[in-house]
Amino acid sequence: MVFSAGDGEADLLAKWMIVAAVGTLGACSAVAPPYGRYSRAVIFGIRFPLLDAKLGWILMECPNVLMSLWFLLYGSDETCLKSPVNLALLSMFVLHYVNRSFVFPFRTRGGRPMPVPMMLFGALFVSINSYLQCTHLLRSRIYPNSWFGDPRFIIGAATFSAGMFINCQSDGILRRLRRPGETGYKIPQGGMFAYVSGANYFGECVGWIGFAIAGWSLPATAFALYTLSNLAPRARKHHLWYLEKFREGYPAGRKALVPFVW
Ligand SMILES: NC(=O)c1ccc[n+]([C@@H]2O[C@H](COP(=O)([O-])OP(=O)(O)OC[C@H]3O[C@@H](n4cnc5c(N)ncnc54)[C@H](OP(=O)(O)O)[C@@H]3O)[C@@H](O)[C@H]2O)c1
Repeated sequence: MVFSAGDGEADLLAKWMIVAAVGTLGACSAVAPPYGRYSRAVIFGIRFPLLDAKLGWILMECPNVLMSLWFLLYGSDETCLKSPVNLALLSMFVLHYVNRSFVFPFRTRGGRPMPVPMMLFGALFVSINSYLQCTHLLRSRIYPNSWFGDPRFIIGAATFSAGMFINCQSDGILRRLRRPGETGYKIPQGGMFAYVSGANYFGECVGWIGFAIAGWSLPATAFALYTLSNLAPRARKHHLWYLEKFREGYPAGRKALVPFVW
């Protein structure tokens, strides 16, 4: 039994995030968010400044790490902070975002510049999400030590680890497609790219689904759904983009996001 000391605020925010995920699925299916290969300065007829890709990614993602740090130092409930399970779940979240905010941007090669509104929108979302996950894990819910032995934690943590491995491996494969200074696109090979065009997104989705299983909570589930809602359409757009660009040269059996299925 997981003790919940009043998850009201986090659960309410999580429900709003699920509603937002439905809207995001529709919006991202209609138009690809303007970063990476779809980056553009003119959005809705207005020209915006572009940020260097590395800086854009750092500014967009670092609120995750800063918010977690702030909660750990000033905003947490002492009982939550003393629960090893709470800290283990928080560590998964923080480790992922240390990589995404500070390792991934510095290692990317030739990333397209990012329009300022994209960075601001992303930073707003990650701030809300990190507030949600931190409120849940550091203020509301207290997991007993026995949760470490619960099949949900064991399966979820293993799934999270597998997802993060695939995500980092795929990011690395994409990075190595370019020599320093190069900016073009090639066909990614190896790892989960043997099966899907969005191997990095597949890993990311699997990882956050694992996180949701490990925590068995509405906030973590809402985050997993939000991740799927923006990455599934993006994986499909990438897949169609590859087919258009490389035509017969593109591996025929490769799917967009889900191996052998879609
Ligand atoms: N949790 C979430 O909701 C969420 C949302 C978005 C992203 N993410 C994660 O953030 C990471 C980056 O996402 P992304 O959308 O930027 O991924 P992406 O479009 O696959 O691009 C990743 C990097 O690889 C380069 N690249 C991509 N395809 C390439 C190719 N065929 N040849 C050479 N270089 C290539 C890109 O350069 P260009 O910039 O020049 O295209 C970029 O630097 C992923 O791991 C993703 O899972 C998570």
